[in-house]
Amino acid sequence: MDIIRVKDRDFKLFLPKETITARIAETAQRINEELAGKNPLFLAVLNGSFMFAADLMKQITIPCEISFIKLASYEGMQQGGKVREVFGLSERIDGRTVVIVEDIVDSGRTMLQLLDSLNTRNPAEIHIATFLFKPAALSCPLTLDYVAFEIPNDFVVGYGMDYDGFGRNLDQVYTVIP
Ligand code: IMP
Ligand code: MG
Repeated sequence: MDIIRVKDRDFKLFLPKETITARIAETAQRINEELAGKNPLFLAVLNGSFMFAADLMKQITIPCEISFIKLASYEGMQQGGKVREVFGLSERIDGRTVVIVEDIVDSGRTMLQLLDSLNTRNPAEIHIATFLFKPAALSCPLTLDYVAFEIPNDFVVGYGMDYDGFGRNLDQVYTVIP
């Protein structure tokens, strides 16, 4: 089924399962080569990254640890912007090689705030692994080490990503039909 309805919108198939599986294997392979011997700590950002994290981690063959964090957002005082705080990080990360595992980098603001927050805990280095990246939407300086797919600036759903809470369970990625 290539066209689906999620809540009140129609979406069409954008990244089929086979494409996702093949690309995640390549991404994991790069991580296995580049972070060998570093005992990385993967920090998967809930909720969106749960499927990507699960499939990626199954392909990681080097010694590593994984933990899950959540970002709680509330309205900030300045510029009406959202402030996001990191929840659930019980591990010490000082001196560690950290790999943030995210579903999607859009404007990049979420990732930048997460980096700022983690950097106060003195990790040795932080790498970013994101399933999707929308280069045209990026509005802050970010270096993304591992990007499974660069995609156009259109709203997507599935494979962990939601439309108003729905669609996270879809095992492929769908893009909104305007
Ligand atoms: P950013 O702070 O603008 O980079 O937004 C990142 C967050 O917005 C992601 O972690 C997602 O939760 C959400 N997001 C951005 N684009 C999409 C999309 O196309 N579909 C679903 N969620 C999205
Ligand atoms: Mg996310």
